[in-house]
Amino acid sequence: MLDKEPQIIRDMFDRIASTYDLLNFVLSLSMDRRWRMMAVQGLAIKRDDVVLDIGTGTGNMALLALELSALRVHGIDLSRRMTGIARKKAKARGLDNKYAIYLADALHMPFGDASFDKAMVAFGIRNMRDINAFLMEANRVLKPGSLFSVLELSMPGGRVFRILYSLYFRYMLPRIGGLISGKMGAYTYLRDSVIKFPPPVKLVEMMETCGFRVLSTTPLFLGACHYYLLGKP
Ligand SMILES: C[S@@+](CC[C@H](N)C(=O)[O-])C[C@H]1O[C@@H](n2cnc3c(N)ncnc32)[C@H](O)[C@@H]1O
Repeated sequence: MLDKEPQIIRDMFDRIASTYDLLNFVLSLSMDRRWRMMAVQGLAIKRDDVVLDIGTGTGNMALLALELSALRVHGIDLSRRMTGIARKKAKARGLDNKYAIYLADALHMPFGDASFDKAMVAFGIRNMRDINAFLMEANRVLKPGSLFSVLELSMPGGRVFRILYSLYFRYMLPRIGGLISGKMGAYTYLRDSVIKFPPPVKLVEMMETCGFRVLSTTPLFLGACHYYLLGKP
C-alpha cells in the first residue's frame, strides 16, 4: 500500500522539484508537451474563462492555458518548491498577474461551490489518497456545464508493448529518474503508483459515479497515458 498522505507527497515533490521538468521531458521522450497541449485544448478555453489547475506543479498546464487565452488560472498544489518554479516561469513570461497559486490539499480546496468555468489535472490524480473524494471535490468547485481535463499515466493495453513497457517501467525508469534527480525513491513511487492506479475502464466508472459525464477517453502512446475529457452536467 503506497502512502499518499499530504506531507509525504509534498516532501517527495519538494525533493525532486529542481529536476522535475527535465525528467518529464526525458522519461516521456518529450511527448509530455503534446499531451498537455491536447488536454488544455480539449477545454476550449474562452477569453473570460477562469480555470482551475489541480496539482499545478511547475506550472506547465497553467501557463499553456494562459497562453491559449484563459482570463485567469488558479493553481493548487501541496509543494512549495514545485510552485516556486511555477511562479518564476510565470514571472519570466509576464503572466504572474493572471496566475494565482494556493498551497492546499486538492481534497479540501479553498474555493466555493461552482467557482470555475474549466478545470484540469495533469499527472496529479494518481497521487490522490482517495480518488472518489477528489473527483467529488473537483465536481463541487466546477460550474454546471463546465469541462474538466484529466491526463494520467497508465499501463499500456497491447500484450507485446505492455511486456516491453513493463520492463522499461520496472527496471529502467527508477534508475534514470534516480540518476538525474538523485532521488530514486521518488521514481520507484512513480512506477508503483502507476502500476497500482485503477485502469482506465475502472477510472471512467469512478468519474461517472462522482457526477461527471465522460465525454471522451483517448489512449496516448499505445495506452501509456490516457486523456479523459469530462463534463459536469
Ligand atoms: C506529477 S506532478 C504534476 C504537475 C503538473 N500538473 C504537470 O503537469 O507537470 C503532481 C503534482 O500534484 C501535486 N499534488 C499531489 N497530491 C496533491 C494534493 N492532494 N493536493 C494538491 N496537490 C497535490 C504534487 O505536489 C505535484 O506538484
